[in-house]
Amino acid sequence: MKRLFLLVIISFVFFTGCTKNEHFLTFAVGGAPNEIDYWEEIIREFERKTHRTVKLLRQPTDTDLRRQSLVIPLKAGEKDPDIFLMDVAWVAQFAASNWLLPLNNNIESDSFDIKQFFETVVCGVDVYKGEVISLPVYIDCGLLYFRKDLLKKYDCSIPETWQDIQQYASKIQDEERKNNPSFFGFVWQGAQYEGLICNFIEFIASNGGDIMDSCGNITVDSKENIQSLQFMRDLIHKYKISPPNTFTEMREEEVRAFFEGGNALFERNWPYAWKLHRSENSPIKEKVGITLLPRFKGGENAAALGGWHIGISKYSDCKSEAWELMKFILSYEIQKKLCLSLGWNPSRRDIYDDPDVKKKMPYMEVVKKASSHAVARPNFPYYTLVSEVLQRYVNAAISGKMAPNKALEQADKEIEEIIRRYHE
Ligand code: GLC
Repeated sequence: MKRLFLLVIISFVFFTGCTKNEHFLTFAVGGAPNEIDYWEEIIREFERKTHRTVKLLRQPTDTDLRRQSLVIPLKAGEKDPDIFLMDVAWVAQFAASNWLLPLNNNIESDSFDIKQFFETVVCGVDVYKGEVISLPVYIDCGLLYFRKDLLKKYDCSIPETWQDIQQYASKIQDEERKNNPSFFGFVWQGAQYEGLICNFIEFIASNGGDIMDSCGNITVDSKENIQSLQFMRDLIHKYKISPPNTFTEMREEEVRAFFEGGNALFERNWPYAWKLHRSENSPIKEKVGITLLPRFKGGENAAALGGWHIGISKYSDCKSEAWELMKFILSYEIQKKLCLSLGWNPSRRDIYDDPDVKKKMPYMEVVKKASSHAVARPNFPYYTLVSEVLQRYVNAAISGKMAPNKALEQADKEIEEIIRRYHE
């Protein structure tokens, strides 16, 4: 009897493909607290449909911390998590480290319609050595949020240039401070982390600068970049329209809460902030507007290209179940829900034509326009090393510890050294 029981257990484990004692899939996901709560709902829906059990491993909000919490188990070859979301900035590193399950066979055998996903994103990010190793869940791009009521009250138009931002913010901040001493003109992500690099890319690209030119040369200490970094620093120290904790504390959620609390005129953030600003208990619910991030005079609008991709661990012992979950998350139904409930910019093209999306998310037009100005971060497997150097020096410059030209010269040198070492 005992043997028979053992046999049944072994066969069950064998045929289902999972060898964990408890039979569940582990899915690692982070983000803003409301996003993680929403993932719980999606997972429960998957469980009801498939009668499988999924354990959600809650990760932090900050992308760098999310990456670390995946790198540790993956480096150790652990079975969990089976499936996870990855920032567009680190997919290349995960692929080159050989941590991701190639998906071509699954895609073919299930006739999975990969053509529905933006081709430029899939080809630029999710294909490694001819194999699809991940797929996009949503696409992010930087946006400018503004207080419609205050621009109107002080007779200012929607800003188009960074100079407009500086002018309007200085004027309105002076006036609003009379009633609200905590009021600031412009909040953005300046803490030493990946988000700072997204902001930096937007400032430099809207001034004709870049990190690398089209021939692959590092151009970090260009004249355009130094000017832009000087402007970022001036926002805090000279014009004093961005709060002094910009370079110590300001990440996405801190910035969102600051603006949502009615304490700022302008905010730089990703599309997810829209839904929250417009939610029932938001003090600025009816007062918020959204537009493209400004440009320097003579420059072009730019939005950092962000977004999150889903992949399956090569070490997972539940690969086929993980693929089922991945298909579910990328299905029309769930992508539409993620868009309507979280304001995410879907990675499937067909969602943009959905009548409900068109009706309920008119701001998607702005997001679509901003996406057409999207600037990607360099797609190196060692990007995180490059970013770490930039984070250190850009942050030192905006905090006032280093002159912008010196900071960028030093960053340029260190980045060239990283590249040289990698190609040795
Ligand atoms: C958002 C973007 C991601 C970016 C991160 C920076 O999550 O989607 O690509 O790296 O913000 O904080």
